[in-house]
Amino acid sequence: MKKLTRTASGLNGSIDIPGDKSISHRSVMFGSLAKGKTTVENFLPGEDCLSTISCFRMLGVEIEQKESSVTIHGNGLGSLKEPTDVLDVGNSGTTARLMMGILSGLPIHTVLIGDASIAKRPMKRVTGPLRDMGASIQGNQDGNFTPISIQGGNLKGMNYVSPVASAQVKSAILLAGLQATGRTMVEEPFKSRDHTERMLKAFGVELEVDGCRVALEGKQELKSDLHIVVPGDISSAAFFLVAGAIVPRSKITLKRVGLNPTRTGILDVMKSMGASLTYSEVTEDGPEPYANITVETSALTGVEISGDIIPRLIDEIPVIALMATQASGTTVIKDAEELKVKETNRIDTVVNELKKLGADITATEDGMIIKGGAKLTGAVLDSYGDHRIGMMGAIASLLAEGETVLENEEAINVSYPSFFAHLNKLQR
Ligand code: S3P
Repeated sequence: MKKLTRTASGLNGSIDIPGDKSISHRSVMFGSLAKGKTTVENFLPGEDCLSTISCFRMLGVEIEQKESSVTIHGNGLGSLKEPTDVLDVGNSGTTARLMMGILSGLPIHTVLIGDASIAKRPMKRVTGPLRDMGASIQGNQDGNFTPISIQGGNLKGMNYVSPVASAQVKSAILLAGLQATGRTMVEEPFKSRDHTERMLKAFGVELEVDGCRVALEGKQELKSDLHIVVPGDISSAAFFLVAGAIVPRSKITLKRVGLNPTRTGILDVMKSMGASLTYSEVTEDGPEPYANITVETSALTGVEISGDIIPRLIDEIPVIALMATQASGTTVIKDAEELKVKETNRIDTVVNELKKLGADITATEDGMIIKGGAKLTGAVLDSYGDHRIGMMGAIASLLAEGETVLENEEAINVSYPSFFAHLNKLQR
């Protein structure tokens, strides 16, 4: 339990945004599949990414990790060994789904488990197509839920048209496709984050990308000796982008924020709401662009958020909803039913927690409607074990009259272990 109070003098100063969670996972995974040494700088030492490291260690990969610095000694896909115990993905959906793609191609038996939240998240979106490629997969409710056991090997490439825009689905199938005979193609309704494509290319894999389609030939090897610099996670920066915009008298600079266009939906939304954002030290020479972003308090107006922008800001919707409570006018979020299958049902948890603070917010089938101009009052909030719901509550407390209590705040360590240290730094 953590007690939080309204901030008296706004947020000021600068912070280094910790490494991107999606890219940190992939650096360990692809480094483990490659032949050669991979070094990673600004790796995110959050619980989710540490789960990925522990899974690959159990598969026999030598990985050194000290805070945000990681070295992976990869010996190629063929060197991964059958583990002697279950692989525990903790709270990490990315670890679970991408590992399933990798393990499906290997002639070994593995069992994946996770925490209580993972046990409720649908896996059929991945296990279904992986079975079609030839993997033998068992799990609760016909392979939809953990524990899931996989006997991999002998995959055939496939063309897969995914009903959801999901980077986890796309990546799992591409990672299985890498080990399959023939060609594998994945098509999605809207383009999801493309970190897998960018990083596979950096590891020497040939891929064809055409809009929402990605294809590759199987039996390609990943080559390393790469030094990966992970940019800051825009999904972590999002909490302070919003805080800087809505907490009166604030001006903060967030350093090295990743600006991959498949992730920058929040910046487009903030701009259209009237936020003041300025960019400096824009760096575009590596596979992933990044820059420093300065945000200042400004008057905001409600907007509609729907369609192809949704996958570009799906993880930011909790904090965008909080921002909308402070805008003038109404914000409508549509086409976001994927929120229901995140770490919690984020339509329910966002609406519950913001309502407790006095916001005018209504859940809909595929999103929410938020009437702006709310005066927030402190309350007892819960993260429900969901890191982004916890951080949304902590940022809301900066505006709320009186005391806010946040329960289960330790969930924040999943993606942003230095969150409260950064918040304190900006309040000094
Ligand atoms: C992620 C993809 C997204 C995102 C998650 C991380 C990834 O999930 O919400 O936090 O690293 O590939 P979906 O693929 O389910 O949309």
